[in-house]
Amino acid sequence: ILTKLQKDCATPLPVLRHVADAMAADMRDGLAVDGGSDLKMILSYVDSLPTGNETGLFYALDLGGTNFRVLRVQLGGKAERVVATEFEQVSIPQDLMFGTSEELFDFIASGLAKFAQKEGGNFHLPSGRTREIGFTFSFPVKQTSIASGILMKWTKGFAVSGTAGKDVVACLNEALERQRLDMQVSALVNDTVGTLAGARYWDDDVMVAVILGTGTNACYVECVDAIPKLQGQKSTSGRTIVNTEWGAFSNGLPLTEFDREMDAESINSGEQIFEKTISGMYLGEIVRRVLFKMAEAGALFGESVPEKLSIPFVLRTPDMSAMQQDNSRDLEAVGSILYDAAGVNSDLSARKIVIEVCDTIAKRGGRLAGAGIVGILQKMDSESSIFGKRTVVAMDGGLYEHYPQYRRYLQDAVTELLGSEISKNIVIEHSKDGSGIGAALLAATNSKYDHDL
Ligand code: BG6
Ligand code: GLC
Repeated sequence: ILTKLQKDCATPLPVLRHVADAMAADMRDGLAVDGGSDLKMILSYVDSLPTGNETGLFYALDLGGTNFRVLRVQLGGKAERVVATEFEQVSIPQDLMFGTSEELFDFIASGLAKFAQKEGGNFHLPSGRTREIGFTFSFPVKQTSIASGILMKWTKGFAVSGTAGKDVVACLNEALERQRLDMQVSALVNDTVGTLAGARYWDDDVMVAVILGTGTNACYVECVDAIPKLQGQKSTSGRTIVNTEWGAFSNGLPLTEFDREMDAESINSGEQIFEKTISGMYLGEIVRRVLFKMAEAGALFGESVPEKLSIPFVLRTPDMSAMQQDNSRDLEAVGSILYDAAGVNSDLSARKIVIEVCDTIAKRGGRLAGAGIVGILQKMDSESSIFGKRTVVAMDGGLYEHYPQYRRYLQDAVTELLGSEISKNIVIEHSKDGSGIGAALLAATNSKYDHDL
């Protein structure tokens, strides 16, 4: 089973090259016309990026796949930059992921209300002004302006009823009214777009942002002339950020029976195949499925199959990563993680096999993510040459942050595909939690007031 798994998951250079080329081709097709490819290539309405001159006090709401954050960001202009941020983070309660739209947005608005209360009324807004919010909403939204957009569908295991097809800013506004909060959304952004804006504030060479966390996605700076579906609409800068929604990519991926079965049993079967192959929500589950088969067909953990191992999602990607960090001779940590997570008793030889399975799945994920990034860079280079210049890819998300092997595999794939000369100039940089600040910055750029608060 292990040998077949390794063969099915293999990502030699020709496979990586195919994925990178197919990613670039799908991007082109998605830019030509809506629905032109698996990649939605969503126009963000962000035509100008933060300059550092932004001033004022802004709030940011950040609904990711796992956590919800509220931030208060004081922007101090060129001299002082971000002078203060305060934030609170809570994990999104499971039941809200399957509840109603009203319940989810009430949760967001009440989180903001509690946070804002702490301000204690110790500063006043000039009359007629309301506080402005940058809203990071980490799901596919068809933007209708910088501050409005329709949820196309849920991803990452969310199945909230009544939001798809609606303007998420209108949903939030209704919830803010229910909380009697006088605030307004000045920018609605995807987490990738927030991350790009946040990272660009500090570094002018940031051109791409990638999230590798619960889900995965990428956005980048595109030339307006390379977007036929804009039909001649111009932006003042001649450029705009495009949210690829690359999680939906599916072309030429090396998939296994375990991927197919996981997809078939998922709540969004047939969708988000790249995401299901490379992102944090799914890697642990793929490993669990492999181990279950090994236990059933090959008695990996002794005569009987541990019952808990049959439960979907009991083994999580952080468990996988933690097991791969175990360098002890007896692989004791591996043993206790297997026991705690999946009720499995294991001997040393079984533990070694488990590590190989984890490595196989992490390696495929990291290398395919690297190929995806190269696809984006190739597409950008074909419009206006970037190879040879310093180009920064801002990265965020728990998977990238907490899985060193995955990170290395990703970097290896980028270097293999681009060669060492070109890849020297491609800087992949962790931009932790930049998305909230990025959203606040974009709220400032799109503020309807002349700022200085
Ligand atoms: C965060 C963003 O920094 O990264 C979120 O602000 C985003 O909106 C996230 O979704 C990825 O997080 P996770 O929990 O999926 O690793
Ligand atoms: C999912 C969402 C996407 C988001 C990504 C990372 O793929 O559809 O919008 O950017 O997860 O959080």
